[in-house]
Amino acid sequence: MSLIVWNSSYETGISEIDNEHKVFVSIIQRLETAIAAQDKVQVMNIIEELLKYADFHFTSEENIMIREEYPDYQWHKRIHERLLIELRDKIHIMKYEFIDLDLLLKFVIAWFNGHTREEDKKISAYVAQKYR
Ligand SMILES: [Fe+2]
Repeated sequence: MSLIVWNSSYETGISEIDNEHKVFVSIIQRLETAIAAQDKVQVMNIIEELLKYADFHFTSEENIMIREEYPDYQWHKRIHERLLIELRDKIHIMKYEFIDLDLLLKFVIAWFNGHTREEDKKISAYVAQKYR
């Protein structure tokens, strides 16, 4: 059983965001498998994929916020930027030093759990009341 499985608690109700979040979960699951297999090359490749997907997904989500005139856009964008910086830092450390991969996995999952259930749901709540 994976540490992360898509479930209704992640749903924002904005299908573009939910579909991308599902892909994000599937990448985390593949990362988990590669870590369990101690396949360092695959771990590195999947983390690069995760970083690039996060970058794409954040831009996509930010464009939805702009389109919907979401008032906390700047704040939310800063949270995205901070995660990208943290992920890039961790990848850099992985290349040159020891990093605990289980902790890295837990960090990514905790971030996804917190961010989608709190910050991303604020976007969908705003959009829902806007078109009520
Ligand atoms: Fe977000």
